[in-house]
Amino acid sequence: MNQEKQIDAEKQMALVRDRFTRTAGVFADYVLKERVFEAERLLRLAAPRGTERTIDVACGPATLARIFAPHVRWIAGLDFTPAMLERARREAAERNLANFSAIRSNLLRMPFRDATFDLVVTSYSIHHLPDAAAAIAEISRVLKRGGKFALLDMIVSEDAKIARACNELEIVRDASHTRALPVSEFEKLLAACGLRIVQREIIEHPRHFDQWMRTAGSKRGDKEYEATRKLLEDSMRDDTAGLHPKFFDGPSHGAADERPDIELTHTALYFAAEKQ
Ligand SMILES: C[S@@+](CC[C@H](N)C(=O)[O-])C[C@H]1O[C@@H](n2cnc3c(N)ncnc32)[C@H](O)[C@@H]1O
Repeated sequence: MNQEKQIDAEKQMALVRDRFTRTAGVFADYVLKERVFEAERLLRLAAPRGTERTIDVACGPATLARIFAPHVRWIAGLDFTPAMLERARREAAERNLANFSAIRSNLLRMPFRDATFDLVVTSYSIHHLPDAAAAIAEISRVLKRGGKFALLDMIVSEDAKIARACNELEIVRDASHTRALPVSEFEKLLAACGLRIVQREIIEHPRHFDQWMRTAGSKRGDKEYEATRKLLEDSMRDDTAGLHPKFFDGPSHGAADERPDIELTHTALYFAAEKQ
């Protein structure tokens, strides 16, 4: 890693830690309630047998780990934001998950030998990293031959202009967003690391703008809220950011002004890949 990249990586880690410390409560409450079906969908694709030594990297509040735990031998949850790991431990304790342990580490340099795990899982992490290729290479390194890597993340259009507009909007909403990838880039990165996709699904996830902003820590009137809303509204006519936004035709409970909420759609990639 050259000096410039190193500085970027350090800055990125600070941004991520700050974002997920500041929003730990609201973010964890949301994902632990709303990402159950997503985690179960990924579990079906990964299809563990019950014997796997598993790790959920960038686990947040154990969003995937708590769903995978009953189906694998043991599962570690790795994250570098202490507030997230604290919530993950609490979640595992409340569910009596005796086979879960939390590990504080950077996923780009994991403290494990090569070929330690049978299964590596991750959700909504790649678009927060400074270097997606390095992350996938590190995941592949700790995976055994024949082991599986199961991922769920938002993706962007194959059209570079739409992809750029989407990533720019995401960064205005949340400075810790780096870059969401198109499917073709995931495919190239996986192939370069000897990972062969065996199961794959692409699913649309509709969501409400106000709630999406709340999980990033901002509300109506805040600078980030207003700037992101403007970009999203500007993208509406020709769907220039690929988020299919439209004004929500219904009440906006508890909103600070009369403007309607906006519905938008994220597209998510789910896959299970096998290490060759
Ligand atoms: C959007 S959250 C996703 C959390 C969880 N996987 C989920 O789907 O709800 C991103 C998580 O990645 C963690 N993270 C980001 N970069 C990381 C890195 N380099 N090493 C370890 N954790 C990281 C953050 O602390 C945060 O908990």
